[in-house]
Amino acid sequence: MKKIAVFASGTGSNFLRIYEAIQQKELKAELTLLVSDRPKSKVVEKAKALQLNYFAFSPKQYKSKQEYETKIKTILEEKQVDLIVLAGYMRLIGSTLLQAYPKRMINIHPSLLPSFKGIDAVGQAMKAKVKVTGVTVHYIDEGMDTGEIIDQYPLFLHELTTRDEIEIEIHKIEHKLYPEVIRKVLEEM
Ligand code: GRF
Repeated sequence: MKKIAVFASGTGSNFLRIYEAIQQKELKAELTLLVSDRPKSKVVEKAKALQLNYFAFSPKQYKSKQEYETKIKTILEEKQVDLIVLAGYMRLIGSTLLQAYPKRMINIHPSLLPSFKGIDAVGQAMKAKVKVTGVTVHYIDEGMDTGEIIDQYPLFLHELTTRDEIEIEIHKIEHKLYPEVIRKVLEEM
């Protein structure tokens, strides 16, 4: 069975969805670990409630990205993780993890990349008044939301006016798309 680690900083609805997809056998994998850079986040609460392994750290307590990523890498190796799945992890991945897990790290982003990279992609789409946005799953590289695209799904905004409405629909797409893409990526590994 392939082993997944999820990296997340926030609410963790995608984390929970991945957990459920595994429970419901939509996804044949083991959710081995949650890594979070926010020890007090909702996603860490979720991992605790589900009694899943987690590593929550405060970046400030390390001298550098290299230092905390080396620690993360040791844990990933101990747990024999095959695939790293970013789900709202608000940090750029550095060379320590990139070199250790080439093409074995993926991310989900709430826009049709290469449009609206970086933070608040939904706000950027609203400001630009685009009529179509969506969700992208991509491999991680050293850039911000620049890695090779694996899959995308559009969201038409004609009927959606508020941020809340858009975010609800974006999450619905994410919760369907991410387990499917993870399944395909694992099959190809
Ligand atoms: C998602 O919209 C994802 O696309 C982005 O961060 C958000 C995380 O949401 N990278 P959640 O914490 O999984 O609810």
